[in-house]
Amino acid sequence: MKLLLLGADGQVGWELRQSLAPLGEVSVADRVCADFEQLDALRELVRASGVDVVVNAAAYTAVDRAESESDLATRINADAPGVIAEECERLGALLVHYSTDYVFDGEKVSPYAETDAPNPRSVYGSTKLLGEQAIRASGCRHLIFRTSWVYSGRRNNFVRTILRLAQERESLSIVSDQIGVPTSAAMIAEVTARCIEHAVNADGPSGLFHLTPTGETSWHGFASYFLDLARNGGMELKADEIRAIRTDEFPCDATRPMNSRLCCDKIRDAFGVELPEWRFHVRELIARMLEQENA
Ligand SMILES: NC(=O)c1ccc[n+]([C@@H]2O[C@H](COP(=O)([O-])OP(=O)(O)OC[C@H]3O[C@@H](n4cnc5c(N)ncnc54)[C@H](OP(=O)(O)O)[C@@H]3O)[C@@H](O)[C@H]2O)c1
Repeated sequence: MKLLLLGADGQVGWELRQSLAPLGEVSVADRVCADFEQLDALRELVRASGVDVVVNAAAYTAVDRAESESDLATRINADAPGVIAEECERLGALLVHYSTDYVFDGEKVSPYAETDAPNPRSVYGSTKLLGEQAIRASGCRHLIFRTSWVYSGRRNNFVRTILRLAQERESLSIVSDQIGVPTSAAMIAEVTARCIEHAVNADGPSGLFHLTPTGETSWHGFASYFLDLARNGGMELKADEIRAIRTDEFPCDATRPMNSRLCCDKIRDAFGVELPEWRFHVRELIARMLEQENA
């Protein structure tokens, strides 16, 4: 199988480099090789690749900045996936793409299913929804995985930011009334590879799937959990007070959903994947960070 991985330097993209390798011959493209602002060049790159599967892990993910850069966010999150999808349709290739819980308004009281109506409240969420729609409209075979609260040992993410702040400050204030599921980039990449193996056959499952671990927590619950793990593992942290605050006490440019939980029954049923409880990969990551710190 020949695969093209776009966005290979992002959190998920980086993990995909490893998880896709056993599937076949993988061509890897970062922003330098495939700039999503250059739509004609992007189209040409996908067309010339002649691959069986395109995996798109690139996205405009600066949620707050998107509020003032909606044109750029639209180009990267909506126009570019549309172009990639059109070329996948031409090639007869499977397109794998990622979307977000931010397509929902967060007002539902239970986890969102794939059949629930999206209603984004932010520019980022709106552009990601447009990207999903462009892929569907192209008619290409696709897997769209909507996920949430992604973290890894690289780049800017909640885990790395909070660990840094906990080393610098004595007290932290973290939002406790938004509920969701922290999702490891490594887990997304592992599940993606499993699903591609099934979906690459023309009669395999395809479409939109929610993908997160099981369980749920708040940002405050998430932070408290990994800060305890880090402290108990010997990491020196200044912060001994982790205050729980409400969303309205931490104003941001973009509105976030209060309920980010995604129901993942469909992906389990279609692909037979087992999804771990969210703490599993958090423990793995903190253990790895502690190992690196002590090396
Ligand atoms: N992060 C989350 O919490 C979260 C939650 C739900 C869904 N998702 C979705 O999951 C997917 C993966 O997210 P992630 O967390 O891995 O994102 P990420 O770490 O921010 O990585 C995004 C990648 O996209 C690349 N990119 C940005 N602008 C580009 C452009 N103009 N041309 C080409 N590449 C460009 C970035 O390039 P550089 O390396 O040059 O910056 C980066 O490698 C995305 O579709 C995202 O919307 C993420």
